[in-house]
Amino acid sequence: MKPTIADLRRDYTRDGLTEAQAPVEPHVLFSTWFAQAVEIETTEANAMMLATVDSAGQPHLRTLLLKGFDERGFVFFTNYQSAKGEQLSAQPLAAMSFWWHDLERQVRIEGMVEQVSPEESDAYFHSRPMGSRLGAWTSPQSEVIAGREVLEQRLAALEIQYAEQQPPRPPHWGGYRVVPSLIEFWQGRSSRLHDRLCYRLKAGNWVLERLAP
Ligand SMILES: Cc1cc2nc3c(=O)[nH]c(=O)nc-3n(C[C@H](O)[C@H](O)[C@H](O)COP(=O)(O)O)c2cc1C
Repeated sequence: MKPTIADLRRDYTRDGLTEAQAPVEPHVLFSTWFAQAVEIETTEANAMMLATVDSAGQPHLRTLLLKGFDERGFVFFTNYQSAKGEQLSAQPLAAMSFWWHDLERQVRIEGMVEQVSPEESDAYFHSRPMGSRLGAWTSPQSEVIAGREVLEQRLAALEIQYAEQQPPRPPHWGGYRVVPSLIEFWQGRSSRLHDRLCYRLKAGNWVLERLAP
């Protein structure tokens, strides 16, 4: 018999997470988990959900690709004039979530958001394939468009314009960095008794606490 939605469940038994495994700096543990996700996950390990909030308090959520991280924070690239860009200029706060299914792990990150330096955005933009660079010029991201042909016509014009020269980075396109004030590492365990180790930034120091699952 076909299982109903209510029957769909999986017991998580792959691994555990103890305080002894948690370094002082959370980005060090993120780095370890991310490297394992790149190795093991069958889907894009750098795909994550990013939540922003608008001035009415309505949360908005979408999938993005993480493009860098270090002790300063977590970087993604997008259109500064998109819906998320508007939301971030009004309320520069975000939450991020990774779900690494094969590893039975989730990481949640919360913090303030800032634009990365123009040099950082330039460096990443120029590392992208030509199609993606022209795509950044082509798409008025999040705006209503009359049809797909709007994009195709714009792209065709840009291909002619940039046939013999490199497109510059559009001024409305670049990176954001989520500067974390909270990072939670979640490891699925059996019988829903998961491990949750949560780092919170307090007076400039990371404080580690275990949360009930
Ligand atoms: C796997 C995946 C990766 C994505 N990566 C990005 C990304 O890195 N940057 C981006 O602007 N949009 C990316 N998108 C599209 C976003 O989910 C979203 O549609 C777009 O950014 C517009 O969001 P907004 O209207 O809330 O601003 C991705 C979508 C998927 C499914």
